Amino acid sequence: MTHARLEGLNLDILRNRKSEKWNTYPPEILPAWVAEMDFPLAEPIREYLEQATGEGDVGYPIDPTTTGVREAFSKRMEEHFEWPIDPHQVEILSEVVQGIYLGLMAFARPGTGAVVQTPIYPPFLHALKDTGVRLAENQLQPKASGWEIDFDQLNELAKEPLSVFLLCNPQNPTGRAYGRTELEQLAEFALRNNLIVISDEIHADLVFDGRKHIPFASLSPEVSALTVTLNSASKSFNIPGLRCAVAHFGDPSVQKRFAETTPRHSRGGLGILGIYASVVAWQRGDPWLREVREHLQSNRDHLCEQLAARIPSVRILSPQATYLAWLDCSDLKLQPSPARFFLKHGQVALSEGKNFGEDFGDFVRVNFATSRKILDDVIDRMVAALNASG
Ligand SMILES: Cc1ncc(COP(=O)(O)O)c(C=O)c1O
Repeated sequence: MTHARLEGLNLDILRNRKSEKWNTYPPEILPAWVAEMDFPLAEPIREYLEQATGEGDVGYPIDPTTTGVREAFSKRMEEHFEWPIDPHQVEILSEVVQGIYLGLMAFARPGTGAVVQTPIYPPFLHALKDTGVRLAENQLQPKASGWEIDFDQLNELAKEPLSVFLLCNPQNPTGRAYGRTELEQLAEFALRNNLIVISDEIHADLVFDGRKHIPFASLSPEVSALTVTLNSASKSFNIPGLRCAVAHFGDPSVQKRFAETTPRHSRGGLGILGIYASVVAWQRGDPWLREVREHLQSNRDHLCEQLAARIPSVRILSPQATYLAWLDCSDLKLQPSPARFFLKHGQVALSEGKNFGEDFGDFVRVNFATSRKILDDVIDRMVAALNASG
């Protein structure tokens, strides 16, 4: 089943966008890299933005804690994920990546490392480098069931001092949506090693096949106390340019430490449009989101089927969440890297594997949040690149 609104994308209009995705490469290159969607905005968000800009309502925002954004987020967590939280334990940020940086600055003790499960969304690795925190890398393992956590390898990492676990769930780029048993095992590891868990759950709404995202902090009060949960409406509702995110703290003393390390104005301001668009998204965006999620799931299946039929040597483990597919191209031996190969010979821009971890240079990430027609063009270009190079 496809949806007319999501199928009727116009490439000329997309190419006119000022976003990074559509502006980095010349027009002959088809972009399927950075994680933003090509779809029109949810109607309530569009109406709010039109009204605000039409009326010139783009002045300084008032104190964001009085805007309802914390309450809208909290209500959503309870209604969608059975995770009741106190809005007072939510800090408002401009972006999730900022939360990762600030969390490391507040909680990574000198001389300790942070666990990251790779391959991983590149800013996790940049954040460690930029804040001088040692990477304790736990590589996910490709199994028939999907990308799995290697708990033996994880326990080995605890032989060196650690202070933080930087979790990404649902996971970018593998699309894993961790189940309760795995999360409980991770929680047990974090509790045993006295870690603060910074859990990036920005893809929580984009879980497929009737699965349900499980917030890490919802596992138990004990686990909540050591967890900082990062989230935003920006990924699910495709408003990343508006800049608004939230951080929930299970323990007020952890929140206090975070707030003291990073005074409000050192975090930069928020835009008024981002704050209220997030509220509208969380309160009234669900009909749009349901439609988009169904479309993404069908695109995911189509991409997997097409790759299996047309480029069988590319390995893909069907993502359980996100709109990103992580492709193992190692059997093709593409030079200088799969992403550069497909860019040069197929004129399609995919994300470079090695940015997600040093050992992943033979992978590429494909963004399938577009119309079926454009996705088919992406696949055709990949096939044509391989045919052209013999
Ligand atoms: C896992 C993950 N975290 C964070 C972000 C970016 O969030 P923000 O723009 O709020 O920093 C992305 C964007 O793709 C992501 O995939």
